[in-house]
Order: sequence, then C-alpha cells, then structure tokens
Amino acid sequence: MTQTLEFTQQLSDHPKSAEERAAILADPGFGNYFTDHTAVVDYKVDAEGNGGWSGARIEPYGPIALDPSAAVLHYGQEIFEGMKAYKHADGSVWTFRPEANAKRMNRSARRLALPEIPEETFLESLRQLVEVDKDWVPNGDGEALYLRPFMIATEAFLGVRPAREVSFRVIASPVGNYFGGELKPVSIWLSEQYARAGRGGTGEAKCGGNYAASLAPQMEAEAHGCKQVLFLDPFNDNAVEELGGMNIFFVFKDGTLVTPELNGNILHGVTRSSIIQLAKDRGLEVQERKITIDEWRDGVASGDITEAFACGTAAVITPIGELKTKDGSIGSPGGNAGEVSMSIRKQLLGIQTGAVEDTHGWLTRL
Ligand code: COI
Repeated sequence: MTQTLEFTQQLSDHPKSAEERAAILADPGFGNYFTDHTAVVDYKVDAEGNGGWSGARIEPYGPIALDPSAAVLHYGQEIFEGMKAYKHADGSVWTFRPEANAKRMNRSARRLALPEIPEETFLESLRQLVEVDKDWVPNGDGEALYLRPFMIATEAFLGVRPAREVSFRVIASPVGNYFGGELKPVSIWLSEQYARAGRGGTGEAKCGGNYAASLAPQMEAEAHGCKQVLFLDPFNDNAVEELGGMNIFFVFKDGTLVTPELNGNILHGVTRSSIIQLAKDRGLEVQERKITIDEWRDGVASGDITEAFACGTAAVITPIGELKTKDGSIGSPGGNAGEVSMSIRKQLLGIQTGAVEDTHGWLTRL
C-alpha cells in the first residue's frame, strides 16, 4: 500500500527566541530539551475494517491530549525509533540510514500489532520537522539533533485487542554525548536477577516496555557506580545479549569483531549493522554468534579479548571499561578506549558529519 500524504503546517506562535535556543545549544546534554514543533500522522480503522493514515501535519510542540482509557496507557502498545540529524560544514542537514529505521519501526509495529507506516511518510515526517526546526541542529563535536519517531495506541477502550486509532509522531531534541561530558569508557553492571528478553518475546522490537523493564536493573547498575546494565540469556548458557539501551561488540586480539547474533531477543541496531559493514570494509572478520559470559571472562583473563564497546544511535560507539558483577569485577577488556573501537567510531562519526566520504550512500539530506 503506497500513500503519499501532504503535510500541513501550523507553526508555533511562541517558539524559543534565538537567545534561548543558543543557551540550550551551548550545553544540550541528552534528551533534556525539545524543538518548537512536532510531526504527527493519524491512523484509523473505519467501520468496514479498513485502516489508513491521514492528517499528516506539523504542529507546535506541546502536551498530547489523550483519553484516560487510551490503550497505550494500559497495555503499552507503543514503539519508537532513534536517529540523528547532523549539520555538515556547508550548513546542510543530513540523517543516517533513515530507511533502515523506517523498516525497523515497521518490524516493531508487526510485533506490537500496530499499523505499518509507509516508508515515504516516515521519511517525509523527518524532512518536514527538520525543515521547520533546522536552527536547532547543533554542530559541536559529537552533537546532533536526535529524532525520536514513535507510535502510540490512542483508541479509548479497555478491551485487550489492537487499537483502531493510533498516532505516529516525531519529536526532536538537540543532544551531546549520551553519557554526558567527554567520551570516556563506561562501567557496566551484570544483571543476574533480571533478563531483558525471552524466546518469542519482544526483545528485538523497539518498544517502550523493553526499556521500562530495564529500569529496575539500571537502578541496580547505578547503585554500583555503573552507567549501563548488561543482560544475559539464562536459558542459553548465559549468552551475552545486550545492554539496557544499546548493542555490544567485542574485539579479539587477532582483530576479529564478535557481536551476539540476531536471535529474536536482540535489537537490530542500525549502528550495529553499520559497524559490521565498516569492519568488513577494513578486511576484519566479523562474527555474529553466541558469546557467553564465561567466554568474556576467560577471554579477558587470557588476553584474547582486547576491547569491548557499546553501540547505538545515542551511544555511537562507547568503550566499555569494566564489567562489574556481584562477585567483583570480571576484569577490564583493555580498560581504556581501545584502538579498534575508537578508530571505527571516528570513521562512523566522520561519515555522519560529512568529514569522511560516504561510500555506502548511507546519508539522506533532510
Ligand atoms: C538510541 O540509541 O537511539 C536509543 O533509542 C537508546 C536509548 C538509550 C536512547
């Protein structure tokens, strides 16, 4: 089904002043501030049971009026995406592999029984929003305009079935480093009490529930001085899965990269797949396979594993300095920002910001 929707524009009559915006852009942090507008597209199933998208629009950023019985508030029928817009040296604004995010959103939609959004409508909503809020795209080192498309079940009813009214929206937030301040290796906490996903569950979907379930273990991580939590699959030899909000990679001393395979429990990271491609371009071997916590522990002890890093749109590539467990530290793979991790990070960020040639055609001008 192809639908080409025309967007209408209702501009904010109280946008932030240039001075207010400059003050925010001077130190945006991550996810603290939002631009003046939002993109919205509505979905409705009619009496004959036919669903369709309509009402594509740009409107002022602000609270959403929802019926208290809206399905999203009760059963968590919600999915989201994360991507970034980058300002290049000539002032043009680009985003990275947006069609991959559109495809992943539709994969999540299928799992959460939400309607798929036409890829062109997804892309147009990004273009429209960035066009009206382009002054919000920061250009400092490591900064970008984070774009957050999301879809929520808005129908007012309490029966448990897929909602017949849904809202797709995009909001935008100027951001710096996800972990704050200068890039430095992060410590992560091994969750042994909680799992993130189970076979046949929603692990590979980008849905709010997965992140809500990561919060109690994330608090445990923070209580132990760690920035992220690592989840294992206790029914699969304690295989490493992913962190609370990002995928994970290991670098072996022969240069091989290993990352957990996409087994249904793991998010199909766009950054993850880009790193795999960039590593292969360098002639490095990449293995998408099961890696257990024992292999990690033994690999660090023997020196076979030299680096580990977290990756995602928000995290880009963030080196892992230490893995803490309730029985002490498993040891630090490298301890510092590893050479391979940092070199791939530099290349990836270079492509995204226009400093390095985009040989894969990953950038889309907004
Ligand atoms: C992203 O990387 O875009 C995410 O959605 C993860 C979240 C921790 C911000």
